[in-house]
Amino acid sequence: MRPAAGSRITGTGSALPARAVTNEQLVSELAARGVQTSDAWIVERTGIRQRYVAEPGLTTTGLGASAARSALQAAGLPVEAVDLIVVATSTPDQIFPSTACLIQAELGVPGGAAFDVQAVCSGFVYALSVADALLRTGAHRTALVIGSEVFSRILDWDDRTTCVLFGDGAGAVVLEASDQPGLLAQRLHADGSRARILCTAGRVEAGKVQGDPFLRMDGPAVFKVAVEVLDSSAREVLDAAGLAVSELDWLIPHQANIRILTATARRLGVPAERMIVTVDRHGNTSAASVPLALDWGVRGGMIRPGQSVLLQGVGGGLTWGSALVRM
Ligand code: ACO
Repeated sequence: MRPAAGSRITGTGSALPARAVTNEQLVSELAARGVQTSDAWIVERTGIRQRYVAEPGLTTTGLGASAARSALQAAGLPVEAVDLIVVATSTPDQIFPSTACLIQAELGVPGGAAFDVQAVCSGFVYALSVADALLRTGAHRTALVIGSEVFSRILDWDDRTTCVLFGDGAGAVVLEASDQPGLLAQRLHADGSRARILCTAGRVEAGKVQGDPFLRMDGPAVFKVAVEVLDSSAREVLDAAGLAVSELDWLIPHQANIRILTATARRLGVPAERMIVTVDRHGNTSAASVPLALDWGVRGGMIRPGQSVLLQGVGGGLTWGSALVRM
């Protein structure tokens, strides 16, 4: 197959667990185990009002496959068209095979390549960039790029500094090789020297989990880095594409905290009404947060064909990056 000039998003989809847990419900569930928090603290410090929590048996694979089905439907494509699946997740159902292979089997995709990308909350931006690069080679024509997480299963429900922040869900896009590139520019970064400020350090060894199996985060340290790198990576990607901030239609930063989102928009000079915000209803869904917000904006009629959208991730690793997309 001949190389393509680039790739375009031709469909978006998402999936959420059935159970939405409001702050009020969470506060009373945590109080029952002796953990003190409040709706006022969560809303004021994070902007989160509810999050979705997967019921037992609902997997990262299941959520990702549902989101992928809805993206394929939006693109008007059958599963047989897919020849590449890239899944961003930090909560895979198994050590191996990859969640991408499990989703391939669940969807009935007949062949092609399938693999996972592990970049925590930057995972979707990483996965999109990797899929775009493979589509440009001509070796693949139609990719499913999926962010899917069940972070509720790696939370320490006795640690109020983290357990109120995260939720479960999945988002997906269909990315097709195209002679009219939709992915205009992207830049990815990592700084492994700061791995410890946000990690789940445990590992399976000798038949047991060794080390700490829960997510741990130095929230204020991550907050400071997030505001800096979301600003710098937005600017470098806009520069690379030759687009002025005023020409940007939509900003979708990783949905971690409303204060990070508003600080990012303010520093960049993007009006608040041009930023998609879903952290209030989804919480932080890690690699799923950006595609969930993108699908929310598309299905809500805010994001329209031809518009420019800046997708931004920042998370464990540390990792960060941005991708500028023409829808
Ligand atoms: N309820 C009530 N009080 C709380 C809670 C809670 N759930 N959690 C912490 N507190 C208390 C603390 O104990 C502290 O009390 P003290 O002053 O008596 O010591 C006080 O609230 C302030 O704590 P801080 O941690 O300083 O609060 P901050 O305003 O920084 O907010 C937060 C914390 C929300 C975690 C914020 O730092 C944040 O959003 N950080 C960034 C997170 C992020 O961006 N993550 C993205 C990547 S996620 C990934 O990659 C997996």
